[in-house]
Amino acid sequence: MSKLKTLIVGFGAVARGLAMDTKMSNWFPIATHAQALQADNRFDWVGVVDPDPAAQKSAKQDWNISAFGSVEEAAHLEPDILILAAPPGERAAVLRALTSVKGVFAEKPLGDDDGKALVKEAEQRNLPLQVNYWRRGDRTLGILASGGIRERVGDIQAATGVYGNGLANNGSHLIDMIRMLLGEPVWAQAIGDITPASGGPITGDIHVAFALGMPTGTVVSIHPLDFRHYREVALDIWGTVGRIALQQETLDIRIMPRVANRGLDDEYEIAADESVELKSTVADTLPNLYANLADAVTTRTPLLSPGKSALKTENIINLVHRSANTGNSRLMIGDA
Ligand SMILES: NC(=O)c1ccc[n+]([C@@H]2O[C@H](COP(=O)([O-])OP(=O)(O)OC[C@H]3O[C@@H](n4cnc5c(N)ncnc54)[C@H](O)[C@@H]3O)[C@@H](O)[C@H]2O)c1
Repeated sequence: MSKLKTLIVGFGAVARGLAMDTKMSNWFPIATHAQALQADNRFDWVGVVDPDPAAQKSAKQDWNISAFGSVEEAAHLEPDILILAAPPGERAAVLRALTSVKGVFAEKPLGDDDGKALVKEAEQRNLPLQVNYWRRGDRTLGILASGGIRERVGDIQAATGVYGNGLANNGSHLIDMIRMLLGEPVWAQAIGDITPASGGPITGDIHVAFALGMPTGTVVSIHPLDFRHYREVALDIWGTVGRIALQQETLDIRIMPRVANRGLDDEYEIAADESVELKSTVADTLPNLYANLADAVTTRTPLLSPGKSALKTENIINLVHRSANTGNSRLMIGDA
């Protein structure tokens, strides 16, 4: 099979720059789209589009890849795969301009009109559209999502989550992970007041505490943290026979067993001091999403993080906003 000719549109931090972060590379040896493309020989990375001359220079000098200032200039490359790693705004228009494309890898967020139009365009053309909610490429989380949580900690009684740097920014990753691990919530409700997300990368992004109701009646409560103090995106799940903590932004996942209570006869407790760490598999997340996209294009394998799923996450974000702006009302989550 011939290789999939691939074009990156937007050549900034997530496309190339994050590779320079030494601590990140300890955990994510493949942290950027550029690294993922170089590591997978089913892709033939043929070009970069970015209006920034410095980004074009980096593509040519650091990666030996042709670079262009506009999509029109790059259209002659006839890419099979389109990587959308520019900020939102013109993503749907870029896909419309490239009729050769057979599959798309898009960065989050997709919550604006452009994101929705992008998903619609891909759907109309029957193109697989993978969205970089990267935890969906993590094998350990995949095992937990497909029955592994219940196997380890029983039925879920309660869960709490924390996020920072903005609801649309990191809050979206947390909501997406909750949907992946615990299933689709049926309602959303703000439980605090809106404050600006100080220091976050998305202009106008907010912080707010909120709750998500699951079909079983279980409630997940979620709280914002100010990343100027420290970072965390975490989920703590309390089951009937154990607890699972996904912490250090899911670089550390621990199971805590139910044991005899240390302070009372004939009672149980969760032994937080006897936790067992699950092996981290975050290193493979981006390569797994890329391999899955190649499979989807060549053999119609289902995507791990399809555009339609990402829109459900974005829909919940919109409902949390709306709830906070309407006296913290409880809003049912319909189809996105
Ligand atoms: N999935 C994740 O965990 C994750 C992590 C980081 C960033 N992101 C997302 O990736 C996107 C990009 O973020 P970033 O941090 O790399 O931003 P960035 O500002 O570092 O890079 C964006 C690049 O896109 C270029 N660009 C802007 N408009 C363009 C256009 N119309 N066509 C082509 N290129 C254009 C800019 O010149 C810049 O080089 C954002 O949507 C962000 O939310 C996702």
